[in-house]
Amino acid sequence: MSRVYNFSAGPAVLPEEVLKEVADEMMDYRGCGMSVMEMSHRSKMFDDIIKEAEKDLRELMHIPDNYKVLFLQGGASQQFAMIPMNLMKNRVADYIVTGQWAKKAWQEAQKYGKANKIASSEDKTFSYIPDCSDLPVSEDADYVYICENNTIYGTKYKELPNTKGKILVSDVSSCFLSEPIDVTKYGLVYGGVQKNIGPAGMVIAIIREDLITEDVLPGTPTMLTYKTHADAGSLYNTPNCFCIYVCGKVFKWLKKMGGLEAMKERNEKKAAILYDFLDQSEMFHGTVDKKDRSLMNVPFVTGDKELDAKFVKESQEAGFENLKGHRTVGGMRASIYNAMPMEGVEALVAFMKKFEEENR
Ligand SMILES: Cc1ncc(COP(=O)(O)O)c(C=O)c1O
Repeated sequence: MSRVYNFSAGPAVLPEEVLKEVADEMMDYRGCGMSVMEMSHRSKMFDDIIKEAEKDLRELMHIPDNYKVLFLQGGASQQFAMIPMNLMKNRVADYIVTGQWAKKAWQEAQKYGKANKIASSEDKTFSYIPDCSDLPVSEDADYVYICENNTIYGTKYKELPNTKGKILVSDVSSCFLSEPIDVTKYGLVYGGVQKNIGPAGMVIAIIREDLITEDVLPGTPTMLTYKTHADAGSLYNTPNCFCIYVCGKVFKWLKKMGGLEAMKERNEKKAAILYDFLDQSEMFHGTVDKKDRSLMNVPFVTGDKELDAKFVKESQEAGFENLKGHRTVGGMRASIYNAMPMEGVEALVAFMKKFEEENR
């Protein structure tokens, strides 16, 4: 068996331990003679799986009892519509646009009401997080929306915006479970799991109970109403059973690793290996404001497109996969999610040093 160091932005690297366990249980999950993929979602076996996954997630994130945990399909992108459909009671919401994903969410919300862009960092290719301490939050805004970690650009909010009492809605797809968060600061916090948690095809939405109502925009489909899924414990229809099962294993792995405080410490150390190198390199440079650097997605460039392409090609030959940057930023991007081992980043930096010496 040969595994590469996979720096993909998502779907992304998963803990090897988890993959092995899944492989071991593939033909016969705990003596029931079938895999989780083949099992009824109404079975006792699966009920235990989904309940245990939720329990472990609640423990990891210290989710208060007045928040529901929903396992939903449709990807993070479906939430761009589901959020306004369910939460835009006044048909007004404020968006802070710090990258492509926040922009897409803002554009989608315009279909349902007045979506105000109250701050943006597009003037400098989304390379920073705007000062959000005193924004012109709308009097009648139903919520303020952010994308907390900008996967493409490699920025992260180090402080949540001052929403002036309005509900905060946050997309944490690419920083999910990478560090502790205070769930009580959010009305709704959600993310696609395919970056830091599990296989693609599912979103976890953590939503305050009082925001789950039947009072949604007219025409909202049953399947796109949070209440449908909250009332049914995420089993209104057939959920992504296999994904829930793998995510549950990742939650157990995170607990074994020491929980989210320990992950934060580990992620800070891991990201520092790469950022420290970028800060002293004469060839490679980070692309965002240092104060806003993400611990999960690290874009970098040489400043020379041909050299960037050479680096991507040679790094791949050396066993480092998916380092090519997003097409809107160019250069390279290393996504170093929870499951990327420290040695993966050390090996990458060693390779970058060698490349710099050979291509001076
Ligand atoms: C921050 C963020 N939000 C949303 C999305 C969209 O996710 P999905 O492909 O699950 O719709 C992505 C995907 O890469 C992302 O990085």
